[in-house]
Amino acid sequence: MPESEISFYYKNVTAEVIGEEHGITAKQIETLAKQTSPLITQLNSERKADKTPYRDLPYSKENPRRVKELVAEVKGDCENLVVLGIGGSALGNIALQTALNPYMYNLDNGQRQGPRLFIFDNVDPVQFGSFMDWIEDKLDKTIFNIISKSGRTVETAAQFLIIRKLLLERLGPEGLRNQVIVTTDTEKGTLRSIANEAGFKSLIVPEGVGGRFSVLSDVGLFSAAMCGIDIDSLLEGACDMDKRVSCEDFYKNPAAINAVINYYFYNHGKKISVMMPYSYALKDLAEWYRQLWAESLGKSEDLKGSKVHIGPTPVKALGTTDQHSQVQLYREGPNDKLFTFLQVENFSRDLKIGPAPECAPELDYLANKELSELFNSEKKATEYALLESKRPCLTIVFPEVNAYTVGQFIYLFEVTTSLAGALFGINPYDQPAVELGKEATFALMGKDGKEYKDLAQQIRSLTEVDNEFLV
Ligand code: PA5
Repeated sequence: MPESEISFYYKNVTAEVIGEEHGITAKQIETLAKQTSPLITQLNSERKADKTPYRDLPYSKENPRRVKELVAEVKGDCENLVVLGIGGSALGNIALQTALNPYMYNLDNGQRQGPRLFIFDNVDPVQFGSFMDWIEDKLDKTIFNIISKSGRTVETAAQFLIIRKLLLERLGPEGLRNQVIVTTDTEKGTLRSIANEAGFKSLIVPEGVGGRFSVLSDVGLFSAAMCGIDIDSLLEGACDMDKRVSCEDFYKNPAAINAVINYYFYNHGKKISVMMPYSYALKDLAEWYRQLWAESLGKSEDLKGSKVHIGPTPVKALGTTDQHSQVQLYREGPNDKLFTFLQVENFSRDLKIGPAPECAPELDYLANKELSELFNSEKKATEYALLESKRPCLTIVFPEVNAYTVGQFIYLFEVTTSLAGALFGINPYDQPAVELGKEATFALMGKDGKEYKDLAQQIRSLTEVDNEFLV
């Protein structure tokens, strides 16, 4: 394995390690490999037929060029970048920032490689209001990047309308035009119409790329590039992973093995899939994965239209924090989870632990050790404890956390998701169940149309509080 490549380790899910009753045997993997090989070929053909445009994002020259041009134009005057978006229009941006910029980035005026970054993916008035109080006298040094593929997502629309009003009041129409950048569909949708009319600078959510598969497009690249992240390395990492996950030799393809293991264990009682990074930097990649996995694989119907109600439940945990919160359950609770650890070999910095005071010789064992040694020992210790309890464990090893390895990780999980979708026989690219909630919100918020009026009445009668049940 070349030094800069992330690797996928799966011995600790095998029967050899956790026993026949709990693990997967080499023979079972071989049987599934035969079932999966044609699916890899099918995915490669779909990609050639332009049916999965997310697969080609890392190769685009046009997208990073457009993003860098805009960064060059606006970065000089920008002290704060505010991203307004939700779901796939926010989680990738958050993940890149946490992974690739320092923990204290926003507070570190001296060393920061770009504006402060704030990403809002909610409509909590207390949270957003508190931010508005802080930002209102800094508007002329702030860029607002409104991201919405459809342009009609209520949370993003509401946030935008609040900001638009504030900008108009404080800076007038020209100020509004200068401080807003929209990222949306090239032609369609409300946000595109608004951008055209107001003359906003704009970026593109490519046609056929769903939100949760869009982080390697303008959606994720702009905030990353503004904040000094090396987007070329990010895309290069994804391109290099593409070679590995397109490989039709099952045993050389980490996405295929990952998908098969997840599929097998789901069908053998492990309905929950826990991703547990031992790296704070990687914690929001687990959050990004949680959406990718849940929205893509949680489906009621298979491709033939039969009711299946399928989908592993993704859970994120953080080492070592959750050792003191979740591991009791993970070891002694129901054996219904598959664990994926994210481990880092070389951290970008290290700290030496100081000497123990004389009165506490029992702490001597820690003295002069590196904190990273403790961190990775705790990962091994947790894995060992889980294996003792016959719980299957995968590990993704990052030689280090940088834009190149993060690009690989993102692409690995995107293609794993496509392959898992094919194994489960469902469509991983739609999210029909999210739509009803969106329609119901429109109805409750008084959107025009008889269908919304009827729906609002129906919702109110169903959700009205019945005092008989109120204590
Ligand atoms: O993955 C998805 O498609 C969703 O999570 C969307 O990203 C989310 O609903 C936001 O949609 P939009 O970008 O249209 O505002």
